[in-house]
Amino acid sequence: MIITIDGPAGSGKSTAARKLAARLGIPYLDTGAMYRVVTLAALEAGADLHDEEALTRIARTADYDLDCGPTHARVTLDGHDVTEEIRSMRVNEHTRYVARSPGVRRVLVEKQRDLGRRLGSMVTEGRDQGSVAFPDAEFKFFMDADLHKRAERRLVELLADGEDVTFEQVLENLQKRDRTDSEREVGPLTVPDGAIVIETSNLSIPQVLDRLLEELRKGGVEIPPTGTASSELATP
Ligand code: DC
Repeated sequence: MIITIDGPAGSGKSTAARKLAARLGIPYLDTGAMYRVVTLAALEAGADLHDEEALTRIARTADYDLDCGPTHARVTLDGHDVTEEIRSMRVNEHTRYVARSPGVRRVLVEKQRDLGRRLGSMVTEGRDQGSVAFPDAEFKFFMDADLHKRAERRLVELLADGEDVTFEQVLENLQKRDRTDSEREVGPLTVPDGAIVIETSNLSIPQVLDRLLEELRKGGVEIPPTGTASSELATP
């Protein structure tokens, strides 16, 4: 069973996806972390972020690994833990160049599908999971929230990570990313056909999880009782 959750940055999809996967006892995939680690690899290599061929090669050959657990998505690059570094403003500012590269998207979507085939069941979240990577997924969700609410959530995360950043900077970065996410030609952020839209501005995390579980139950999925699900591992 493949469950996709798409939506803009700060819509709450990562937390929801992680919690849903843990509740169901199935793996979780944070595809944003894949774009982020490829961005970091490109920056570290000093690559020209407009060089389509170089970016595609890095996406295909860089030595990165994802371990998406119920409370974290641990990411390594060349054997080093870059979990925090891929969330920095430096990476935030540059992901759009990597995310708009058709070659990078092809490589990463292929890795995502391969993972889906190998794992059989997973919750995968991103921008194009229901529209491009898994159009035939059993359940597709799209999460959205008010821009200011999303900026507040991102600010809390960045401050907790020790970033020196203001609300205005986060808001501006989100607006820029919303625009590039929606306007890019390949894999743009869009509500996938048949997706269930959830507005999370005024919902707490448990409320979002309840909404997701309610839809799954309606679709005939048996939800394991709380406390029985195990954590899982996902590696591209
Ligand atoms: O969800 P996030 O903020 O961690 O995503 C990081 C970047 O990657 C963001 O610029 C959008 C892009 N992205 C994408 O283009 N497609 C995906 N499936 C996931 C993320």
